[in-house]
Amino acid sequence: MTQTNEAGRCAVLLPVLSRLPGPLALIEVGASAGLCLYPDRYSYSYATPSGTTVVDPPGGPSPVRIRCAIDADSVPETVPEVAWRAGIDLNPVDVRNETELNWLETLIWPEHEERRQRLRAAAAVVAADPPRLLKGDLFDVLPALVEEVPAGTQLVIFHSAVLAYLERAQRERFVELVRDIDGVWLSNEGAQVLPRAHDLPEVEKNGHFVLTVDGTPVARTGPHGQAYDALASYPEPL
Ligand SMILES: C[S@@+](CC[C@H](N)C(=O)[O-])C[C@H]1O[C@@H](n2cnc3c(N)ncnc32)[C@H](O)[C@@H]1O
Repeated sequence: MTQTNEAGRCAVLLPVLSRLPGPLALIEVGASAGLCLYPDRYSYSYATPSGTTVVDPPGGPSPVRIRCAIDADSVPETVPEVAWRAGIDLNPVDVRNETELNWLETLIWPEHEERRQRLRAAAAVVAADPPRLLKGDLFDVLPALVEEVPAGTQLVIFHSAVLAYLERAQRERFVELVRDIDGVWLSNEGAQVLPRAHDLPEVEKNGHFVLTVDGTPVARTGPHGQAYDALASYPEPL
């Protein structure tokens, strides 16, 4: 199955994650190999019309540097503190297994050399401290996993390029499930995947993702994390 795992998408999650009160507990639904569960371990190069800002983890520059074009007001100042992280997938991918990693590489379009290099570099970061990935359908696994979130952390449930794999009625069912959970919900999905949340005149329907926070659209994003454009409705501060 298509399980493309794009660490670059952390660049469009970071403007929101970095503004939440931490420490954070991250649950990624449809995590593939879990590369997006490590927004705190990568470096970022945010390009605005007036210059570039580099954001590094507290320990110094990461071997993974993600480039993203962004509006000036949305540039994050830092990476969040992540106290706990876990993912759910129908078929979790283990980046320590060369055959499985080769499959993720096969899923990258041939001309996307930068993404191929990023996959290998991010996989090495993740392999050094592998995530907890639970195998199963998100509807079956999410409720019990939420119960494990440590006290004193801010739960964030997020997903990126996942809901398109669900039938339309299942997407609605998922929205109801996640809205009932006490946590912040980030959705980064194709512009047509959640029509009610994404029906915005500012968003071209083709080729863009829309980032929503608790169902409110906050940004139009590049599908591989290469761009972040805040929408007029961006609620500041979060
Ligand atoms: C295109 S990948 C995206 C991976 C990652 N979120 C990212 O942005 O790089 C979609 C993932 O969702 C998983 N998935 C699809 N339907 C699912 C379901 N019902 N429950 C759990 N995982 C699911 C797939 O197995 C796949 O790994």
